Amino acid sequence: MHSFLESSREEIRSRVGKRKVLLLISGGVDSSVVAAMLLKILPPENIYLMYIDTGLMRKNETAEIKLYLKSLGAENIQIVSASGIFLEKLKGVSDPEKKRAIIGDLFIKVQEAELPDGLSDNYFLAQGTLYTDLIESGKGVGVNAKVIKSHHNVRSPMVEAKRKAGLIIEPLDKLFKDEVRRLGTTLGLDTRIVSRHPFPGPGLAVRIIGDITEEKIRILQEADALFIKELVNRKLYNKIWQAFCVLLPVKSVGVTGDAREYGNVLALRAIKSVDGMTADVYPFEIADLLAISSKITNTIPEIGRVVYDVSSKPPSTIEWE
Ligand code: XMP
Repeated sequence: MHSFLESSREEIRSRVGKRKVLLLISGGVDSSVVAAMLLKILPPENIYLMYIDTGLMRKNETAEIKLYLKSLGAENIQIVSASGIFLEKLKGVSDPEKKRAIIGDLFIKVQEAELPDGLSDNYFLAQGTLYTDLIESGKGVGVNAKVIKSHHNVRSPMVEAKRKAGLIIEPLDKLFKDEVRRLGTTLGLDTRIVSRHPFPGPGLAVRIIGDITEEKIRILQEADALFIKELVNRKLYNKIWQAFCVLLPVKSVGVTGDAREYGNVLALRAIKSVDGMTADVYPFEIADLLAISSKITNTIPEIGRVVYDVSSKPPSTIEWE
């Protein structure tokens, strides 16, 4: 990773020169590592970091991101609160690829509308695209690559236009996730950032199966935060490659006191992987699963039932959508 960093430094410096770079921060490992990398390689005053709060982020994400970016020595940080417009456009949309397209295009629209003062026309757009993103979007090596799912940072027409103009920097596009983590460590990033589980660009939108409402987002954020906290407390978080909750469009019957009530069904997903291309189910001790499940149903009244997803990839993907 030291030599990778060295060669990237030369390449990025010679391509960008004194021009400015805009990087969209998602809160995930990849864009966090790109931010740290760019701030090390280029003058910090030329790096513009923009974080768009889509309303589909994990609980408390925005506050944590602010602190992290400041700790990297970033000078130009812009936090855009855009949840209203994202939720409006996603209203009634259930098809996952439609959700991805809407979110991807809105990201770019919001980014353009909110462009920070001081950015010139020919600024570069930096992205944390990984090799796996390119493969799954049908842009990997080989002519027969198929689209498994469109990653919005690869497919958006606006991004394509920047790409055609030669104004895209994707320093991680030859790396797999485990290598990005090692790069983060080489850059001196906090282990909490480097070991954070991956989070998809479209956020909780692809973890709420069916249409998205504010209420569903709130329930999923609470459940997810609780699940992750339990994994950390039980010292399981770092043994798992990715863990999250999925809110299903299914209600099932339960009993509360003497009453019969319909509650939401929540699926827990926890997998082991190296790069996300294949994945095995994390073999929880059943006692841990039972305790986590009752914690969730006891704390979040809207959730009436918890199930554990025991499917590996392939044939199932990691995310449900
Ligand atoms: P799948 O579901 O394809 O996920 O097995 C593989 C890894 O990619 C993440 N993922 C995404 N990341 N935009 C992203 O930036 C997306 O649209 C997207 N879909 C899935 C997923 O969380 C897992 O880590």
